[in-house]
Amino acid sequence: MKGVILAGGTGSRLHPLTRITNKHLLPIYDRPMINYAIEALVSAGIVEIMLVTGGTHAGEFLRLLGNGHEFGIERLSYAYQEKAGGIAEALRLAERFVADERCVVLLADNVFERSIKPCVEAFGKQKLGARVVLSKETDQVHLRNLGVAQFDGNRRIERIVEKPEKPPSEYAVTGIYFYDDQVWRALPVLEPSGRGELEITDVNNWYLAKGLMEYDVLDGFWGDAGESIDAYYAVNDFVRAHGSNKGS
Ligand code: G1P
Repeated sequence: MKGVILAGGTGSRLHPLTRITNKHLLPIYDRPMINYAIEALVSAGIVEIMLVTGGTHAGEFLRLLGNGHEFGIERLSYAYQEKAGGIAEALRLAERFVADERCVVLLADNVFERSIKPCVEAFGKQKLGARVVLSKETDQVHLRNLGVAQFDGNRRIERIVEKPEKPPSEYAVTGIYFYDDQVWRALPVLEPSGRGELEITDVNNWYLAKGLMEYDVLDGFWGDAGESIDAYYAVNDFVRAHGSNKGS
């Protein structure tokens, strides 16, 4: 399984901090944010990784990560996104890198208390399709800023609603996604959303419509450090007090 880390975007919710650097280079406790995403994948056994980024600070990733060996990566590739067009658009750049393997896609502003290894193993056993990872979040304001799962009576996900006015459940979709090679057929048929982006939620709904989506529910803390300045500090405080990616 190959890993794709998405570290592009304008980081507008963290302006003005992100006018002078890429969001994923901002510090979380004692390291740049991107380091947590790399640790999450490497400690789960994913050692062939493509980093997709863009903007004027893309060169800094090379300075920080080099060939990735220092971080346990065997093969680190880079892709450059010409303009910020959404998560799903960024993922298209990884098609040739992933080739005929499956992939785990991780948004580099997502930080996890516990190892994601159990999810990687679960997808390893899944025959085909995709897998998302949910986190129970009770704060309605928070849920309105995320993708939220809507379930049927059998606790299967019916669809995912992006940034819902009325969250259909308390289960947010975190920024780890697992895909088989059908994803490369889903991406070209996407239409831009209201915010002008190709949404990863539409990719996931494409799989859901085919009945090819499974899910895990996370234990422990999960934070999207790019969601708001308060979320950024909440993630910093958590990691400083309790650490991250534990138990792999
Ligand atoms: C993205 C996804 C959203 C998901 C979130 C997790 O949101 O679109 O479904 O819940 O990442 O971090 P964005 O950060 O692009 O607003």
